[in-house]
Amino acid sequence: MKITVFTLFPAMVEPFFLSSIMKRAVEKGIIEYRIVDFRDYAEGVHKKTDDIPYGGGAGMVLMPDPISKALEAEGASGKRVVFPTPSGRLLTEEYAYSLSQEKELFFICGHYEGLDQRVIDTYVTDEISIGDYVLSSGESAAVVIIDALFRLIPGVIASESLEDESFSDGLLEYPQYTRPYRYCTKSVPDVLLTGHHGHITQWRCDRRLEKTMLNRPDLLSDASLSIEERKRLLSILEQDKRTCQEWILSEL
Ligand code: ADE
Repeated sequence: MKITVFTLFPAMVEPFFLSSIMKRAVEKGIIEYRIVDFRDYAEGVHKKTDDIPYGGGAGMVLMPDPISKALEAEGASGKRVVFPTPSGRLLTEEYAYSLSQEKELFFICGHYEGLDQRVIDTYVTDEISIGDYVLSSGESAAVVIIDALFRLIPGVIASESLEDESFSDGLLEYPQYTRPYRYCTKSVPDVLLTGHHGHITQWRCDRRLEKTMLNRPDLLSDASLSIEERKRLLSILEQDKRTCQEWILSEL
């Protein structure tokens, strides 16, 4: 996949492509990237890229000309062009998967108050939000979106690693432990040392149900749980209730 990022701050984006799993994907030739400073397409001695908003209001708006020229020069017209914005469609694992299927993607990083709407209307295919909060720059959001999608491209990471992780089947991930067995008075759950595959799988499944119920109950309705999983969830709830009652009583 070829990824082109348009930004006024290349130093905010470049380290991501030079590190860790992305670095390996680039070395393997799975990812090819370009970072384009669209100030290079601005006119005049000051290379101005933003201006005050029509109609008044706070902040500055990115002017249409420099970014449009950069998009045309890089061949983005008619391709999938992402604009990270808090007013976009929410990024999910499924959405990241659909982006990971593309051969080429373009990202426009906004700053200040936003981007002239005519650029969005002409070039942008996907306005994407990474969550209900506002960041100071589109660069960090673009990196989050790229991170979520590129790891789903075959060959980037082992497919087994993707199978058990959060959102792969609508539930959150089970907890992981490594050596030492005892750390700061806390031990690894004994079931993980039994070597009994069935018991370990059942324990992990229960922890996923429990964690999802506690941290993201909104996910449960879409997770299409089996009858067996629903029964397990009920017994986990009962167990948690008992533990909670015991704790309350011990404090009285
Ligand atoms: N730019 C600023 N905040 C953002 C957000 N929450 N998602 C995507 N892009 C953004």
